[in-house]
Amino acid sequence: MIITIDGPASAGKGTLAGSLSKKYNLAYFDTGMVYRAVGLELVLRGQSIEDEKAAEKAALELTFPKMMELSKHKDFRSDVGGKAASVVAAQPKVRQALLKMQQDFSKNPVFADGTKASGAVYDGRDTGTVVCPNADIKLFITASPEVRAKRRFLEYQAKGMNKSYEDVLAQIRERDARDENRAAAPLKPAADAIIFDTSSYSAAEVFEKVCEIIEKTAKKA
Ligand code: C5P
Repeated sequence: MIITIDGPASAGKGTLAGSLSKKYNLAYFDTGMVYRAVGLELVLRGQSIEDEKAAEKAALELTFPKMMELSKHKDFRSDVGGKAASVVAAQPKVRQALLKMQQDFSKNPVFADGTKASGAVYDGRDTGTVVCPNADIKLFITASPEVRAKRRFLEYQAKGMNKSYEDVLAQIRERDARDENRAAAPLKPAADAIIFDTSSYSAAEVFEKVCEIIEKTAKKA
């Protein structure tokens, strides 16, 4: 079984994907990692994140082990890494260079320890539209920018990071605009995706509702 979860930043895709992968014993591919890896590679090399040739080269050279290595860097998940990822992700040649690596995972899904899995959960922006157009279940998880900013702001606070809600909201809006308006694979639900606005639900409620959807779909198949 392949499940795809697409949607904007901080909509709760990662939390949901993690819970689904545990419940249904599926491998998990957080596809934002490939773009974060390429963006961070450029930052670490001192190259511009707008340099399309350098970004394409870094994307062509990216391997799974290299991505895992880069993911240990302090800026992989920081604002620096997030911005670099969203800038390189808007470059069509970068997306093309990273497509096969993402698609190959669905043919041979593996858990983090390298053991084989019978299927996978993907999370990203185009996993139901471009990466796995034949996925068994496609979800598009969203929430208002204000709700997503509030969730992220609370995460920052819990980590003791000093950021204002207004700054977090501005960053979310900036990332949404870049993801939605780029020419290559703009963020949008697949025609056959189930769209779920999580603005008024907790993560546990979202998980419960999505499990119901999956079980209903599995019965029909
Ligand atoms: O999901 P995450 O915040 O880690 O993604 C980082 C950036 O990578 C996103 O803002 C988006 O621009 C890009 N991305 C993408 N397509 C995906 C996953 C992520 O364009 N499938």
